[in-house]
Amino acid sequence: MERTLAIIKPDGVAAGLIGDIIKRIEYEGVKVAGMRLTQLDRRQAEGFYYVHRSKPFFNSLIDYMTSGPVVLMALQGNNIISHWRELMGATDPAKAGRGTIRGDMGTNIERNVVHGSDSNESAIFEINYFFKGTDIVT
Ligand code: CDP
Ligand code: MG
Repeated sequence: MERTLAIIKPDGVAAGLIGDIIKRIEYEGVKVAGMRLTQLDRRQAEGFYYVHRSKPFFNSLIDYMTSGPVVLMALQGNNIISHWRELMGATDPAKAGRGTIRGDMGTNIERNVVHGSDSNESAIFEINYFFKGTDIVT
């Protein structure tokens, strides 16, 4: 059993897509093991996206991620890291398949509605970044 960090980004929350996205997660039989609505400050967002700090899109990404509330979720299931990335679709909604969250709901390569960890190592870092052990149920 594996865990991943999922985020419904500010565009998803603002567009009223929380329920739709969680419905897709539950429909897949994936367990929500932790969940919290919060507003990220710049320090939190910069620390979370530290690996991207030297990318040209970094400052704009931090503006976007701090522009409104987000929903943080720890998802649990078999191969959930790759499973959730399949449900999200490609980073660029224009390249994401129909039926994927980003393909169906994303605006552009930045405003792409959801986040998902890309490896077991980053999943552990990202879940611990936002959740205390006692806020995860098993
Ligand atoms: O989120 P994902 O792992 O699919 O992509 P990433 O390469 O780790 O990039 C993190 C986030 O930065 C993306 O989800 C986009 O919101 C943003 N991004 C961007 O604004 N412009 C790019 N060229 C690439 C990513
Ligand atoms: Mg990534």
